[in-house]
Amino acid sequence: MDREAQRIMNVLFVIVIIGLWAGGGHAYNRPPPRQTLFTPHADSDTSPQQVHISAVGKDKMRISWITDTPTPATVHYAASPDANGPSTTGTTSSYRYLLYKSGQIHDVIVGPLKPNALYYYRLGDSSQVYNFTTPPSQFPIKFAVVGDLGQTEWTKTTLQHIANSNYDMMLLPGDLSYADYIQSRWDSFGRLVDPLASQRPWMVTQGNHEIEKIPILHRKPFTAYNARWRMPFEESGSDSNLYYSFEVAGVHVIMLGSYTGFHSDSAQYKWLAGDLQKVDRNKTPWLLVLLHAPWYNSNTAHQNEPESYDMKASMEDLLYQARVDVVFAGHVHAYERFTRVYKDKADNCGSVYITIGDGGNREGLASKYIDPKPEISVFREASFGHGILDVVNATHAQWTWHRNDDDEAVVADSVWFNSLSTVPNCKV
Ligand SMILES: *[C@@H]1O[C@H](CO)[C@@H](O)[C@H](O)[C@H]1NC(C)=O
Ligand SMILES: *[C@@H]1O[C@H](CO)[C@@H](O)[C@H](O)[C@H]1NC(C)=O
Ligand SMILES: [Fe+2]
Repeated sequence: MDREAQRIMNVLFVIVIIGLWAGGGHAYNRPPPRQTLFTPHADSDTSPQQVHISAVGKDKMRISWITDTPTPATVHYAASPDANGPSTTGTTSSYRYLLYKSGQIHDVIVGPLKPNALYYYRLGDSSQVYNFTTPPSQFPIKFAVVGDLGQTEWTKTTLQHIANSNYDMMLLPGDLSYADYIQSRWDSFGRLVDPLASQRPWMVTQGNHEIEKIPILHRKPFTAYNARWRMPFEESGSDSNLYYSFEVAGVHVIMLGSYTGFHSDSAQYKWLAGDLQKVDRNKTPWLLVLLHAPWYNSNTAHQNEPESYDMKASMEDLLYQARVDVVFAGHVHAYERFTRVYKDKADNCGSVYITIGDGGNREGLASKYIDPKPEISVFREASFGHGILDVVNATHAQWTWHRNDDDEAVVADSVWFNSLSTVPNCKV
């Protein structure tokens, strides 16, 4: 260790000691930021890369991947390791962004598939065999939840922890690659998440880092995001990849867009009102919402942004009347859990609000909080990590937040939720 590093270690040591003293043993020595990763593509121009899958309807799966040069948009899949099953054909697209031209983005929907089942698959004319496991059709189901993922050494740690959790499905409330206009970073991100996202469905919504709009030069927002991360929006009657819903194992999940229209005259608002009307809590006792910019937040970061305040003012009544169980957000690079709230007050029939924008992006942590802590905020901490929502049955779900303590996943917050559909005074 050189002298500079030794000095930093000494300072950190003193901070830990002061922290332990001030926090009564609960203090956590926040690690410094880690390097941004670039995940290279080692194989040939025709070999598949950036493979990710997403659930479509009740029993289908969309398989998305990219090749540098044109290859067939076909998937062979089977329950046996040779993957020599029927072949399904899909579509191929590409996009331009300034001087960048994307690879061939292939998109194939396979199924019907059995629930909770292992499938093997091959892409185009490549001989490489991948596998995925479909989500269960009944409880229990385990969701991994993490936002603001990015692609740093911290992201890598977070992904390792998630891979070890044996989750069924990923829910990501926005800010994926932090490409920030540099399109090759989208490719790098695709390759970084491929080992996980090719094996379990990744259901995502967009954040501000997905907009990538440039005045005059590139006026269209969400170009890379919409081309690379197509979600099953048509299936839920939505006209936009920026908001949609789906049902899995007794859970109705709604993905909202913080960076598209949300006022009462907007297409998104009308779609949301209609989608909530269709929810049948006998069939799906659990109702979750994901969006990027948090409606409740006691961090000093991202206060008073219209995407938070105006969207909340516009849509909070809809979610409250529908008895949404949990609302997950990202954007603030930290973890925070609120009690059940409605219009800024504790309310037994309101949603639990959770900020989980702590995946590990290159901008670092948001570590300043508003003091004193508002009573409705139950737990807040600026550390990287991820969440697991384990919905065990129609009435009970366990939420755990796993902090990246250096490279160990440590459960730092844990709570049981009761579905609002079974709380007598809150019944819709
Ligand atoms: C699925 O694929 C991964 C990644 O290639 C591999 O590590 C794993 O062993 C495979 N699982 C099965 C059951 O074949
Ligand atoms: C649901 O799970 C909870 C927690 O494990 C358990 O206490 C409860 O009895 C379960 N309910 C049913 C109907 O199985
Ligand atoms: Fe953000």
